[in-house]
Amino acid sequence: FILVVIISISIFSGKIEEIQKRGVLLVGQDPAYAPFYGIDINGKRIGHDIAFAKILADFLGVKVKFVITNWDGIIPALMANKFDIILAAMTITPERAIKVNFTIPYYQTGQALMFNSQKYSNLTIKDIKNMGSKVKIAVQLGSTGEIVARKMFPKAKILTFETVDAAAYQVIIKKADAMVFDDLYFGTLVKKYPSMKMINELLTKENLGIAVNKKDIDLLLWLNTVIETLKVDGTLEELKQEWILN
Ligand code: ARG
Repeated sequence: FILVVIISISIFSGKIEEIQKRGVLLVGQDPAYAPFYGIDINGKRIGHDIAFAKILADFLGVKVKFVITNWDGIIPALMANKFDIILAAMTITPERAIKVNFTIPYYQTGQALMFNSQKYSNLTIKDIKNMGSKVKIAVQLGSTGEIVARKMFPKAKILTFETVDAAAYQVIIKKADAMVFDDLYFGTLVKKYPSMKMINELLTKENLGIAVNKKDIDLLLWLNTVIETLKVDGTLEELKQEWILN
């Protein structure tokens, strides 16, 4: 009888219940990645994925708290239950999906190349390939940009950085020749640093999803349902217009 009670408790008390009892949805992110998240001049966390996380928390009737960790350790931190979800412009990849479960996509992006037009009046993918081992490419450690850069430019010197802003800075100060990262980031960067140029041809196409712990199937199914709903009712489109396209 005790066994039956224990089994039914573990079946019926899921992750959603745990979050609601706690009263807080814990969201894992790294420090900043505009326009998905970052800090405004008043120190408030803002961006596409911040607004999205608040919508999720509202549905659950709880508050939201952002837990900040390094990008290259974010999956192990989720697996160690440091937060409930990763909502951080994370690309869905088969390798990551061995460790965590992904929701259906909530956004599409792709890897792009950025260079400094004060250093090169023009730069193409072919130019970079031709530069062989002389080219320095900055990437964020553990990002799909790092994987793509190593694959496409095997001879290049790949410089890795904890944050995406630190990687971009190397191109701004002309210490690196180019950077590989999600194309959406470059839109915001170019507004701030007009000498930065993005090569229009995308290197890859990628889907962004929310990552959850393998055991939290109730949360995964609920998130998929919410994403479907927000796609159909136009909410995700509104978030895109507000945070990404303006
Ligand atoms: N989308 C890319 C990836 O999943 C880059 C994401 C980097 N995200 C970030 N929050 N800094 O690897």
